[in-house]
Amino acid sequence: MNSLISYPAHVAALKPYVPGLPISAVAARSGIAEDRIVKLASNENPLGASPKALAALSNAAIDLSRYPDSDCAALSDAIAEFHDVPSDWIVVGAGSESVLSNLVSTLLQPGRTTAYAQYSFQAFVNAAQKLGASSTVVPSPDFHVDLNRLADSIDPSTALVYIANPGNPTGTVVDPDSLEAFLERVPAHVVVLLDEAYFEFMPADLRGDSVAWVRQHANLVVTRTFSKAYGLAGLRIGYGIAQSGLADVMRRVRSPFTISEAAQIAAIAALGDGEFLERTVAMTNQGRTALTSGLRAKGHRCIESHTNFVLADVGGGAAFAGRLEKHGLIVRPVAAYGLADWVRISIGTQAEIDRFLAVL
Ligand SMILES: Cc1ncc(COP(=O)(O)O)c(C=O)c1O
Repeated sequence: MNSLISYPAHVAALKPYVPGLPISAVAARSGIAEDRIVKLASNENPLGASPKALAALSNAAIDLSRYPDSDCAALSDAIAEFHDVPSDWIVVGAGSESVLSNLVSTLLQPGRTTAYAQYSFQAFVNAAQKLGASSTVVPSPDFHVDLNRLADSIDPSTALVYIANPGNPTGTVVDPDSLEAFLERVPAHVVVLLDEAYFEFMPADLRGDSVAWVRQHANLVVTRTFSKAYGLAGLRIGYGIAQSGLADVMRRVRSPFTISEAAQIAAIAALGDGEFLERTVAMTNQGRTALTSGLRAKGHRCIESHTNFVLADVGGGAAFAGRLEKHGLIVRPVAAYGLADWVRISIGTQAEIDRFLAVL
């Protein structure tokens, strides 16, 4: 940091967000050809993007000299129809991460607190820290969100409670009945952010009807993304669902023009690509079983995951990732979460998992 410039203490304390290494970076430093490198580090879709999204993009005549629709009107209408809610309940963002940040900016400031479970998604934690808000972190000794302790932690300074369901990097879920009871317990002036980035990978019997909960609770925001199951991570597109009062304030806080026309067109088409979604989820379910049992067979503890990744104790995550990188495999160390012994491994295709297990 430039020592002549003084930064607010909460900015000086920010830790960099450490993303999964790009394939090009690993190729450059290992000398391995890009097409021999397997990236299992960012929970992307190994089948690629939704074919319907790709077709819509190749047929679209996008005028790059024009700003995109800042209001994302057509996409908001499509998402609203998909969930059977009014269009003004939809807040689109450049990735669901930007919707999380948008809500954080809407509600938090120094003196206001956000509460969340230990091992919560780092981008959310950073977004709150950036604004100088305080955090109450509820322990998760078994890697699950303890909803009772989270509700007990709410005090007069609490403005926002964050729950990722399923969680990242844990992959664990909260039981829908307990979540519903939790929502009843939270005071109406405290907003709950339910981050469902991995919703599509959850088995049907573990899913709650989160959109119905939004209808019941004016203080609930549910977020979803096109980055994971729909395979559009590179386009940056996600959304939140909230009743119109809160959604309206979030849209005012959102920066204009951050969502490209390409992203809006692709997302509309992806919403109608149920076939690709099914294929993705089926492959992920099979791959998760293969990956988890392969890791366990080597003596590594794995947390039961309901997502497209697995959290595994490999006894030194950074060194393990470094060894795999020499074989052209990228996995994600999670020391930033206080889990120095663990790595998070995204579920690839069967061939990618076979290669990972062979190297293991
Ligand atoms: C729990 C969780 N929420 C939100 C996101 C943000 O994803 P995106 O901004 O690509 O929608 C991620 C991405 O990894 C995530 O793991």
